[in-house]
Amino acid sequence: MNEKTFKYAIYIVIVILILLFYTKDIDLFGNNFYKNIKPVDNPDSFVVLVNKTYQLNENYVPNDLETISNFYAYENKQLRKDAKDAFEALSKDASILGYRIIATSTYRDFHYQKKLFEEYTATKGKEYALECSAKPGHSEHQTGLAVDVAGSNDDYDDFENSLEFPWMKENAHLYGFILRYPKGKEKITGFKYEPWHYRYVGTEIAKIIYEENLTLEEYYDKYL
Ligand code: DAL
Ligand code: ZN
Repeated sequence: MNEKTFKYAIYIVIVILILLFYTKDIDLFGNNFYKNIKPVDNPDSFVVLVNKTYQLNENYVPNDLETISNFYAYENKQLRKDAKDAFEALSKDASILGYRIIATSTYRDFHYQKKLFEEYTATKGKEYALECSAKPGHSEHQTGLAVDVAGSNDDYDDFENSLEFPWMKENAHLYGFILRYPKGKEKITGFKYEPWHYRYVGTEIAKIIYEENLTLEEYYDKYL
């Protein structure tokens, strides 16, 4: 390679790097959400992955759902036993520190999720609905391991601005919960940032996900 060709090659590489930098937030090649959908084969596992690729069966209902004490949740909110016990412990410990962390939405069956997604679509439009509500079978609320919370401002949608959010962000993993849809990882999770949505995976995995700043999708890629 002569000097002129070498300079030309460097120039091309620099242009490509600049183009990549400015287009990194644009889905040039589209995304894979809701394409090549696969059935979930481990629905009862605490590490089950339910997202825009992995879908739960319409009839899947966890067999160990229990109702959370009204002290820590809205009326009649259910999670699987281990997740329920962990959430009650979290909320109790938070209350000792003067915080109030309340479960507002927990287990949702396939048909309820279908209704929710259709309502979002009708009121906010399909594009918005796809970003913030899962299609039926694709919501991890159907696993009985996901919980939406409100703080003392009593508004799950504004949980990020509650007194409780900083505590929850730094302590949820100690009880086995992860922030499931973090800011900046929307292209991986497929959903908008949800500061209120936590997912029980057990303390061992939650610790790894917290310490390595992973999503559940990234945990699967790295460890499973
Ligand atoms: N809002 C979350 C993504 C759900 O609908 O499950
Ligand atoms: Zn949620």
